[in-house]
Amino acid sequence: MAGLLALPAAAYMLQEQEARAAEMERTFIAIKPDGVQRGLISEILSRFERKGFKLVGIKIVVPQKDFAQKHYHDLKDRPFFNGLCGFLSSGPVVAMVWEGEGVIKYGRKLIGATDPQKSEPGTIRGDLAVVVGRNIIHGSDGPETAKDEIKLWFKPEELVKYTSNAEKWIYGVN
Ligand code: RTP
Ligand code: MG
Repeated sequence: MAGLLALPAAAYMLQEQEARAAEMERTFIAIKPDGVQRGLISEILSRFERKGFKLVGIKIVVPQKDFAQKHYHDLKDRPFFNGLCGFLSSGPVVAMVWEGEGVIKYGRKLIGATDPQKSEPGTIRGDLAVVVGRNIIHGSDGPETAKDEIKLWFKPEELVKYTSNAEKWIYGVN
């Protein structure tokens, strides 16, 4: 009898998981050339992974300078724009899309303040970087930027939709 009852419950849970996956928030995260060269890829990945966020896209690329300019277009009037774009295009960058509830805002918390001198200990920049010009990681700063940056860096087919086995332990209400 228990089996008969369990079937609709399982189907319901599956529907719930699918609905959650459909509406799940995504953000663009990049490990800049300094983070890659310093051997911090796995350290940074693990902080997002251990939190419970899901990796749905990843690649390593050396961006062209005009691509870096597109990525940082909102900073084009700042004095450091040219140097910043030159630096981003100076070597390999690990481009990623992470998914999860609140991942845009919380991803920025994991990353810490722009200037590592002001980032709290426990954050990525607070623990692993010293100056603003070499702050090792980028994260989208809001829903619109996240959408634009994901579109700039990834083709839709490069992003993977899947259900992680851990999801039922990461999400839930009591
Ligand atoms: P990001 O876009 O890289 O995640 O950094 P963010 O949102 O925390 O800061 P944002 O204002 O968007 O600045 C982008 C990057 O520009 C460099 N920067 N240099 N010289 C300076 O005063 C200065 N200010 C910013 C940093 O590498 C920063 O991450
Ligand atoms: Mg920014």
